Amino acid sequence: MTNATGAPLKHLAIVMDGNGRWAEKKNKNRLFGHVKGTKVAKQIIEECSRLKIENLTLYAFSTENWHRPRVEVSFLMKLLTKYLHRERENLIKNNIRFECIGQLDRLPGAAIVEINKTVELTKHNTGMKLFFALSYGGRQEIVNAAKLFAKDVQLGMRRTEELTEELFSSYLSTYPTPDPDLVIRTSGEMRLSNFLPWQLVYSEIYFSQILWPDFTVADLHQALHNYNHRERRFGKTSSQILQDRI
Ligand code: FPP
Repeated sequence: MTNATGAPLKHLAIVMDGNGRWAEKKNKNRLFGHVKGTKVAKQIIEECSRLKIENLTLYAFSTENWHRPRVEVSFLMKLLTKYLHRERENLIKNNIRFECIGQLDRLPGAAIVEINKTVELTKHNTGMKLFFALSYGGRQEIVNAAKLFAKDVQLGMRRTEELTEELFSSYLSTYPTPDPDLVIRTSGEMRLSNFLPWQLVYSEIYFSQILWPDFTVADLHQALHNYNHRERRFGKTSSQILQDRI
């Protein structure tokens, strides 16, 4: 997929925000919003797969989300576990390959079992790659990559002088997936919240006012349509970009 100015869309990332507010606006418990949010996630995943987007990353749980009330954290973990158990067959049917990024060892055992099963049973799928960012924190990912590189230097497998942006990227959990071309954040919040800080430096950002449980396939199309008209210059001028395309 490429946009009108020739920029590819190989990777879409989404911050699914606003579940709690959606429920509160309806005088319901926040957890109700997460249940509806999960249904929306399923629809958006299936539409992205149908549109042949190569990579989709969903911010499902951040390292900071561990600080939420215990009841909400435990509910989200159960929801994730049930979602994977229920949806695995559909992922297989849709040829979607499932993977996760984040500190998975912090998740409850039952969730880890379902994640591992889903990763294993979808690993030969050749369609869209679906990544759940779970217990994910971007700065922590960068620190971890620095530690891994330092270790390789200590072991004599790398030299400090050879470190480049490309080489550093290969120590991140997203490697070898290309950086997101477009990131969507719902609910009107205009920040990135520790989501892929290294990978998003040149991504196009689309902020939607819609709360995630109300986000529809049509809203996804609107965001893609908007991306379609963005000119990605990567620091160059417009005429240089035109020249590059000839
Ligand atoms: C943000 O809404 C959402 C989350 C912290 C979790 C995202 C999770 C889901 C969409 C459901 C689980 C997903 C899967 C695929 C199992 P919020 O609670 O921060 O909303 P608020 O900002 O209105 O409080």
